[in-house]
Amino acid sequence: MSVFSVVQEGAPIEVFALTKAYQDDLYEKKVNLGVGAYRTEKGTPWVLPVVKQAEKMLAADDTLNKEYLPVLGLEKFSAAATKMLLGSDSQALLENRAFGVQSLSGTGSLRVAAEFLARQLGYTTYFVSIPTWENHNLVFKNAGFVEGRTYRYWNETKRGLDLEGMLDDLRSAPDKSVVILHACAHNPTGCDPTQEQWKLIADVVEEKKLFPVLDCAYQGFASGDLDKDAWSVRYFASRGFEFFCCQSFAKNFGLYNERVGNITCVVKNPNVVTNVKSQLTLIVRGMYSNPPSHGARIVAHVLSDPQLFEEWKGCIKTMAMRVIEMRKGLREALEKLGTPGSWEHITSQIGMFSYTGLNEQQSLHMVNNFHVYMLRSGRISMCGLTPGNVDYVAKAIYETLTN
Ligand code: LMR
Repeated sequence: MSVFSVVQEGAPIEVFALTKAYQDDLYEKKVNLGVGAYRTEKGTPWVLPVVKQAEKMLAADDTLNKEYLPVLGLEKFSAAATKMLLGSDSQALLENRAFGVQSLSGTGSLRVAAEFLARQLGYTTYFVSIPTWENHNLVFKNAGFVEGRTYRYWNETKRGLDLEGMLDDLRSAPDKSVVILHACAHNPTGCDPTQEQWKLIADVVEEKKLFPVLDCAYQGFASGDLDKDAWSVRYFASRGFEFFCCQSFAKNFGLYNERVGNITCVVKNPNVVTNVKSQLTLIVRGMYSNPPSHGARIVAHVLSDPQLFEEWKGCIKTMAMRVIEMRKGLREALEKLGTPGSWEHITSQIGMFSYTGLNEQQSLHMVNNFHVYMLRSGRISMCGLTPGNVDYVAKAIYETLTN
């Protein structure tokens, strides 16, 4: 009898199981609105031209080698990523109260931050929005957090933010709680607080001494503007909070499988930086020793070269605008068909995702009857919509809701 026979089968990861099911599906009109990954108008993945250009330059650079990076990663990358997030005029940066740590995309950054908060600072409880990106729970639990709690976020009836519910739930937080906030383009709802609402959220975070972990996976993707999308993070910095912000470069650089991420750490006193870095170093050393270089070099190269940087901003605009166009297209098509309900939220939501309002049964119906792959929660990735399939998807929604 194998020692492994005690192992039970784990639950599938919905978003990746959906991708596999989509790939295996032979139906001609199938549509993948599951995973949050950009697709072109033709429905194909996009390697950003600026990324290809940077890769060519890196390949031709004989000074580069494959030696280990430092445990906290490529300094040029983390400094550029931190500056892009906080802004070059950031007070925290000028006062040496902010630094970056290269990590493994958004997830790896969250995990390192969570390990640090649990091990070094003794935080035990984390708060996530209902709904949230489902991996937040696994990451924080695996990092040693004892309790996962939720705060209300999405108001199903008004299809918008439940600010009062959110603030009430955060007010009930026990001591030593961490709150995970989506910096922009909330996943899965596509619904962000306004600036005024962010101020009220920050008030409660301050009052309850919550430690903010900002998850920033979509800078540039929400509005097409890097500064605008970093507003909440810069606001938290300007209020004097200490926090971690976990940045992913999967979406805005299209570097999904290169695992490029950065933890921006903002503290009150520059004197603590050396010790904090030394403990982060030990956490990384015990998990994966040091990060890979390829993706970080690409990002560092693009962010530090003014011409490439401009080109990249153009790429982000292309992606963000295509998504915005598809939002309009889907709403129009749904309204034209006379689909029951209001579809205004499709265009008011931002970022990669839309929370359609379809319930679990309806979402499964979309998958099983129309081969339109979407999460059970009703989340769709707007990037999977194209001019060629938007009418088909709208019709599928219409039929699902009317039959
Ligand atoms: C998503 O939400 O679809 C992406 O962020 C992929 C993932 O890892 O879940």
